[in-house]
Amino acid sequence: MSLFSRREFIRKSAAGASAVALTSGVARGFPANEKVHLGWIGYGGRATGLMQHMLERCPDAAHVAICDLKPDRVEAGLKAAERDKPRGYTDFRKMMEKEKLDGILVVTAPCDHADVVVPVLEAGFNCFAEKPMDITVEKCDAITKAARKAKGFYQIGTQRRSHPTYQAAMKFIHDGLLGKVSFMQGGWHWSGDPSAAPVPRDGGRLIEQASHHMDVMAWVMKDVAPLSCVSMARADEDTKPNEFSETKSATVFQFPGNVLFSYTHLFRLPGKFDKEILLAFGDKGAIDFNEALYTGRDEKEHRFGPPIGKAWDQGTPESLIHFVDNIKKGNKTPWANVETGRICSLMCIMGRMAHVNAVKNAYEPAVVKWKDLGTTTDL
Ligand SMILES: NC(=O)c1ccc[n+]([C@@H]2O[C@H](COP(=O)([O-])OP(=O)(O)OC[C@H]3O[C@@H](n4cnc5c(N)ncnc54)[C@H](O)[C@@H]3O)[C@@H](O)[C@H]2O)c1
Repeated sequence: MSLFSRREFIRKSAAGASAVALTSGVARGFPANEKVHLGWIGYGGRATGLMQHMLERCPDAAHVAICDLKPDRVEAGLKAAERDKPRGYTDFRKMMEKEKLDGILVVTAPCDHADVVVPVLEAGFNCFAEKPMDITVEKCDAITKAARKAKGFYQIGTQRRSHPTYQAAMKFIHDGLLGKVSFMQGGWHWSGDPSAAPVPRDGGRLIEQASHHMDVMAWVMKDVAPLSCVSMARADEDTKPNEFSETKSATVFQFPGNVLFSYTHLFRLPGKFDKEILLAFGDKGAIDFNEALYTGRDEKEHRFGPPIGKAWDQGTPESLIHFVDNIKKGNKTPWANVETGRICSLMCIMGRMAHVNAVKNAYEPAVVKWKDLGTTTDL
């Protein structure tokens, strides 16, 4: 039996979502019938998928410029967006100089984010940049500082923030219906093999991938940072942690209020174990985000939407619609913004610091406190 009627649920969720949308930003009068002009920096695998979503779901966007260091990637972008007759670049500074752009999407590899995002923000453009923020504390801090004083806004690609099911579940939690949260469990389990993923590019799989789940759990905690974490990791093959990614890791964070969050990130499993896990337990019940299901201590159930399951790209089209909408409305605080982005990205770096001794290039567990990160952007 439902806790409250479907109509009431839809009303509550819609009110929650629009409340978030209206909290900041005043429409700056972007003409309703004009398209927003977008430029792209980095046109590899992820950008190819984002462009497809944009073309299918964002009729208000025109893709007028494509930049990549590799000419064949530029060609691929020009072909995908040929509808809008874009111009191609291999130097993003030239693109920024020559084009009249309302926003820029940065879809470079994790280690190349700050080098591009900081100049984009300093030049005053609205920026959608993929997660994680970057792979070191210093580079995350550089983006955070640039974003906080930028004329445009910074939106990070943690798409679960834009998914209606997550938004409805978070409103339910923040309205107190889960009770006091005591424990959260997360996991991303893969049959894939990350042993070729170079750490200098990605920072390790935990950093490259887990920002999505760190983000959801920091959101449950109303966007406060964890106090500390412990972690252990290993590689199945004899690879060094500064060169290739870990294949298995188990990390536990402690948030204020003695809330624990346990996260496993596993690769090279039999395919039937491919899975995302996102659970939050409170004294009144528990939420399974992937099942979109609340179960009370009295065993009563309430659904937030259709089960999400393994659809890891969930929320991506909505996040792009949100980006275009933010430009049109002059909203400077996207759902996934600089403050949410820095917490989830720094959590991943914290986990990595807790399981790798970078100086010895060895897997070695440690307790890492938030203050050990040495971030200069805590408010
Ligand atoms: N949100 C998600 O669910 C999701 C999913 C997959 C990947 N990603 C993220 O997307 C980003 C890109 O990943 P990818 O797999 O597409 O990488 P990729 O290596 O396929 O593409 C990156 C592209 O950026 C280009 N590039 C690098 N520096 C540049 C510069 N200064 N100017 C212009 N172009 C430059 C490279 O030449 C390359 O073509 C990463 O941050 C990744 O973590 C996010």
